[in-house]
Amino acid sequence: MTKIEKIVLSYSGGLDTSIILKWLQETYGCEVVTFTADLGQGEELEAVRAKAKMSRVKDIRIVDLREEFVRDFVFPMLRANALYEGQYLLGSSIARPLIAKHLVGLAREVGADAVAHGATGKGNDQVRFELAVNALDPSIEIIAPWRKWNIRSRMQLLEYAEKHHIPVPSDKRGEAPFSIDANLLHTSTEGKILENPAEVAPDHVYQRTVDPVDAPDTPEIITIGFERGDPVSVNGKAMTPAALLTELNGLGGRHGVGRLDLVENRFIGMKSRGIYETPGGTILLTAHRGIESITLDRAAAHLKDEIMPRYAELIYNGFWFAPEREMLQALIDQSQAFVSGEVTLRLYKGSASVISRTSPCSLYSADLVTFEESAIAFDHHDAEGFIRLNGLRLRNWAARNGR
Ligand code: ARG
Repeated sequence: MTKIEKIVLSYSGGLDTSIILKWLQETYGCEVVTFTADLGQGEELEAVRAKAKMSRVKDIRIVDLREEFVRDFVFPMLRANALYEGQYLLGSSIARPLIAKHLVGLAREVGADAVAHGATGKGNDQVRFELAVNALDPSIEIIAPWRKWNIRSRMQLLEYAEKHHIPVPSDKRGEAPFSIDANLLHTSTEGKILENPAEVAPDHVYQRTVDPVDAPDTPEIITIGFERGDPVSVNGKAMTPAALLTELNGLGGRHGVGRLDLVENRFIGMKSRGIYETPGGTILLTAHRGIESITLDRAAAHLKDEIMPRYAELIYNGFWFAPEREMLQALIDQSQAFVSGEVTLRLYKGSASVISRTSPCSLYSADLVTFEESAIAFDHHDAEGFIRLNGLRLRNWAARNGR
C-alpha cells in the first residue's frame, strides 16, 4: 500500500462523516481537508465549519454550488424528462457527479492523493462517486471507509461515536434520524420503519411538502417561461436557475406537489423503499412536457421518449461522465433548439397540471386540426389512401387467419 499524504473528504458534518473524519485522521495519520457543498440542503453550514474546526481540520472548504448544480446538472437532465423506473426524478443521483467533480478539483489544488466519501457499501451513491472520480482523474485514490473499517452497523457506529466523544444527533422526537439526503431538487428519506414497504410512511418523514389533504382549497395558477428547453422565468419574472427552482419548491411544497413513496431497484442489486419530495422538479417536468408538446416534431419527441429510460438509468447508475451519457445529451440538447415559450399550470392539492401553453415556435396548427372549415388544403381523400395502405397487411393477415 502506497502511503497516503493528504485526503480530501466529502464532509456533511453529520454523524457518519464526523466519524469518518476521525477514523481517517487516526488510520492514515495524515492531513484531511474537508469539502462541503451547499446544494441547497438547507443546513446551517457555519455549524459544519465549527464542527470541522473542533476536529482539528486546518483546511475547511465550504462552497456554494447551487447555481452550478441546477444549471449544469438538473436542467440538462430535465431537458430529457428523465425519470428512473418511470417515477424517480433522480434528485440524489444527479448531485453525486457534481460533488465528485469538486472533490477531484480540490484534490488537485491542495495536492491530495486521495478522496474519501461517507457512502455505505450497500447503496448507489458509492458507485456514483467513484465512477465519476474514475472518469475525471484515474490517478486519484478513493477511500470508502464504510467498506474498509470493521464497523458493520449503525449500532457499532454509535458505539464508536460515544468512545470518541462525537455528538450523536437525534431528530425532534429524540430518536435516531432517518437517512436523509437533501438538495435543491429533492429530499430523500430512507431507513428505519421505511425499510418495511408494507408499513405506511408516518407523517413526520415529510419535510418540504404539506399533505395534499391539508393543502389550500384554492388552486394557484402559475406561468413558467422556457428558452431552448430550460425554464427561465416564473410568472413573468426572470430568475437564475437556482432561484427559479427555489421559488417552485416553495409553491409546490405549499400545494403538496411532488411526493413519492417508491420501491426502486438499486444498481448494486437490492430493492429499497424510500420517500421522495420533489416539488419544484415535479412542476418543471410537467411544464417542460407541456412546452415540448407544441414545439417538438412528433418523431423527435418519440425518439426522446425512447432513449429517456436509458439516459435516466445511466444517471441512476453513476455514468454521468461516461461517453454514452454525453452522446445522448448531445442528441437531447439538439432537440431543444425551439423549445421556447410559456406554460401555465394549476397547482391544487398535490397536483400540477398544464392548463395552457404558447410558443413563438409552435408547430401546433389550429387551421390543420380544426373540426371547422379550414383554409389549409387538406384533402380528405389522402386520409382514405393512408388508411387503405396501412390496412393492407392487416387485411392480408386477417384473411389468412380465416377471419
Ligand atoms: N435511493 C436514492 C438514490 O439512489 C437516494 C439515496 C440517498 N438517500 C438517502 N436517504 N440516503 O438515488
